[in-house]
Amino acid sequence: MDRRDFLKSSAMAGAMISFSGTKAWAKSSDARIEIFTQEPVGEISPNIYGQFTEHIGGVIYGGIWVGENSKIPNRYGIRAELTDKLKQIHVPVIRWPGGCFADSYDWMDGIGPVASRPTRTNFWEVDPDAKRLHEKGPQIFESNQFGTNEFMRFCKLSGAKPYLAANVRSLPALSFDRWVEYCNSPAGSTTLAARRAAAGFPAPFDVKYWGVGNESWGCGGNFTPEEYASAFRRYTTWVPHYGVDLQFIGSGPNGGNLDWTHRFFDEIYSKPAYNNASFTGWSVHFYSSVTTRNKATDWKPEKGDALQFDSVDWYELLRESSRIEQIIQDQWTVMGQYDVTHRVKLVVDEYGPWYREGTELDPTHIFGQQITIRDALVTALTLDTFNRNAEKVSMATNAQLINCLNALFLAHEDHFVATPNFYVFAMYAAHQGAQGLRAEFSAPDVEFMRDGQPGHLWGLNGSASRKGNVVTLTVVNPDVANPTDTQIALQGASIAKASCTVLAAGDIHAHNTFDRPNAVKPVSLGVSIHGGLLTASIPPGSVSKFEIITG
Ligand code: AHR
Repeated sequence: MDRRDFLKSSAMAGAMISFSGTKAWAKSSDARIEIFTQEPVGEISPNIYGQFTEHIGGVIYGGIWVGENSKIPNRYGIRAELTDKLKQIHVPVIRWPGGCFADSYDWMDGIGPVASRPTRTNFWEVDPDAKRLHEKGPQIFESNQFGTNEFMRFCKLSGAKPYLAANVRSLPALSFDRWVEYCNSPAGSTTLAARRAAAGFPAPFDVKYWGVGNESWGCGGNFTPEEYASAFRRYTTWVPHYGVDLQFIGSGPNGGNLDWTHRFFDEIYSKPAYNNASFTGWSVHFYSSVTTRNKATDWKPEKGDALQFDSVDWYELLRESSRIEQIIQDQWTVMGQYDVTHRVKLVVDEYGPWYREGTELDPTHIFGQQITIRDALVTALTLDTFNRNAEKVSMATNAQLINCLNALFLAHEDHFVATPNFYVFAMYAAHQGAQGLRAEFSAPDVEFMRDGQPGHLWGLNGSASRKGNVVTLTVVNPDVANPTDTQIALQGASIAKASCTVLAAGDIHAHNTFDRPNAVKPVSLGVSIHGGLLTASIPPGSVSKFEIITG
């Protein structure tokens, strides 16, 4: 049975049930999307469109920080092209300084006159991936040229709020208090406020978001959940506020681990109950790779390649990445057993595909990888998942911003290029702060052969939101070969006008390079409106954004 026959026999029958009461659907379409404008699913926190930056490889040194005397256009040593681009996507929040690096970092090393800042061994020096570095640069020996002041400047130039990750593994709780003091105590108050002023920052930074450790089950201290809960209580009790509405984010599970969450929450909520209004976030880290086909036991060297992959790998990665929805649901359910009012929301502060080494642009780029249109689809489906779960996910930061993992930008010396991921964030910015709406997607699964066994993946998926009379619909079409003729209907409103922007490429491996920076970029897609329905042919392997003006 071919794809269209399948549709006629199953999806159309399903449509009769799930879409009864809708304007008349045309029989010729492959897929249908119905947006329920009267069924909000929660306000989409702008903060789920955040970015993560760590002192690893080429993220800070060579990526963000080029130095004030560089010939590369910069503002205060920060790459100007980067902050210009970040403003375009309205980056709301940036996480720093790690990652695993955070639990080895003494923030005191990164303040004061640059010339007198100490050089330390970078956490990632021990990573096997760092062995290929030819030179012992700042990737191995941390120069501390980029510290708290520089990060705050970077955030300001980008229009973002700072989200700091505090060291729980190797610094005492008092040091955490003092970092809050350095950042937030009013001008003219404390000795640390005076040090901040001496560096040119008299006004407090007013940092609201504080991660309390990172991956505390692993690089962040190898804690048991009970040990970490005990540390979390100490680090977050009676931290000075200076009038800032501090938000503490606990170090959550590795992927979907529920035991970590159960045991941490049990300890925090029951023995004895800890009631700290600032504990509002529980982090989740979820990286996807194509090791799931029973071919590999060691995920690190054996995970797939960023550029060498076939269509089965493509589908497998998208399927694997889609697991984020179940992880969110399961974590939420467990958290609600203890935190019954759901004061604590999910903060997915590391996510994205992770491939084996080999496609990084420079040996200094530890965990650097090329970003193809496939990664754009993964990023889009992840952001759509956050949008659909707007009441559960309060913040998310993509790992990482530049020259590492799921990057939006690749840079080396004076070369700089936006990856397809940048365009996803640009297209999806319209969802920030909008009212999430329930939407139903009805499309046949994509079917493929997976090592001799049939495999399948959802046919279309996405999310919808509304701001005033503008409804934004974003859609991922994972099918590598076929466009999907799609009808879109609004329930509870009529369509006055619509347009569509699409990110697609003829080749599943397409990516942008310094030489071909525009190989993947969004273009307009023709749409039409008939009988109250919007119709479009959604290209294969694409991310689309529809802007629908209601009548
Ligand atoms: O993003 C790279 C690393 O992945 C981070 O430092 C760590 O938190 C995670 O394991």
